[in-house]
Amino acid sequence: MSGEHVRCAWQFDPAKDVPTAIYLSQLWTYAATVLYPMRAVKHLGFFPRGSIGKYPTRAPTPGEGQLFSVHRRQPVYLRSDEVERVSVAEFERGASLYEVVVAPFTRPVDAEAMKLIARLTPPAARILDLGCGPGTQLLRLARMFPQGEVVGIDLADEMVTIAWRSAQRAGYRNTAFWQAEVTRLPAEFAGKFDVVHCSFAFHHYPDPVGVLREIYRVLVPEGKSFVIDGGTWWANLMAAPFAQMGDPGWVRFYTGSELADLFSRAGFNDFYWEELLPGVGVAVGTK
Ligand SMILES: C[S@@+](CC[C@H](N)C(=O)[O-])C[C@H]1O[C@@H](n2cnc3c(N)ncnc32)[C@H](O)[C@@H]1O
Repeated sequence: MSGEHVRCAWQFDPAKDVPTAIYLSQLWTYAATVLYPMRAVKHLGFFPRGSIGKYPTRAPTPGEGQLFSVHRRQPVYLRSDEVERVSVAEFERGASLYEVVVAPFTRPVDAEAMKLIARLTPPAARILDLGCGPGTQLLRLARMFPQGEVVGIDLADEMVTIAWRSAQRAGYRNTAFWQAEVTRLPAEFAGKFDVVHCSFAFHHYPDPVGVLREIYRVLVPEGKSFVIDGGTWWANLMAAPFAQMGDPGWVRFYTGSELADLFSRAGFNDFYWEELLPGVGVAVGTK
């Protein structure tokens, strides 16, 4: 662990936290009134699933197995002069509270996304979680794929530390953590991952094609990328003003067809998009 990385305790700042609180209350209200009830409706088989492209097939391999988790028991941090702090400064500040305040919204979406991931991912998959935050989905993936491994990267060092500590506490040894920027992943990742998972982080990336090209670079042939984020035009339109005001570093949300175009420009061979719950989708790109 780098001796130089900065520790930030959260302190209330009305100028930043009031807009964020408004955004969060909008997310919670949407989750309580739409996402949870519609999950139950979907469970009963009544959810009209919107999709784009052909439903993907699972790569016929067992998966790349464990590698980084065997050799990297400690998180790998950037040197302070390598970090572009501005873009994730608010995530550093709010890292300790992030999971508590955001999980009520992401939990039902995660649950639906994980079902799709479980169907399309080989049992010993090596998975990269981009923008892993405090590790909510990363730990779930580590539990789902005990023969595989999950590597989490995040630019906010506080997030990396929190995710690593949670994995340690939970005893998940099939995990590893890096502080990294999504368009400059470690060189040793090239061609090493069966799956890249990216949950509610894609809307933060100013260069989405650059990120997808980087994802493509780190995937094995026929590897898959799962990008979970906003996804229908109406939900994006409704959420954008709140996100702009209260989500630090938000850039924009994309529809399924906009994502199809971005994936194709990054070189992906196949693309599939599905509305997981009203307004929220998953894009699956196959290399
Ligand atoms: C909204 S959080 C999502 C966290 C987690 N995936 C989840 O769904 O709960 C977005 C995360 O992406 C990270 N992030 C934002 N921009 C990034 C970048 N350019 N490179 C790496 N991580 C970034 C932030 O630090 C933050 O932890």
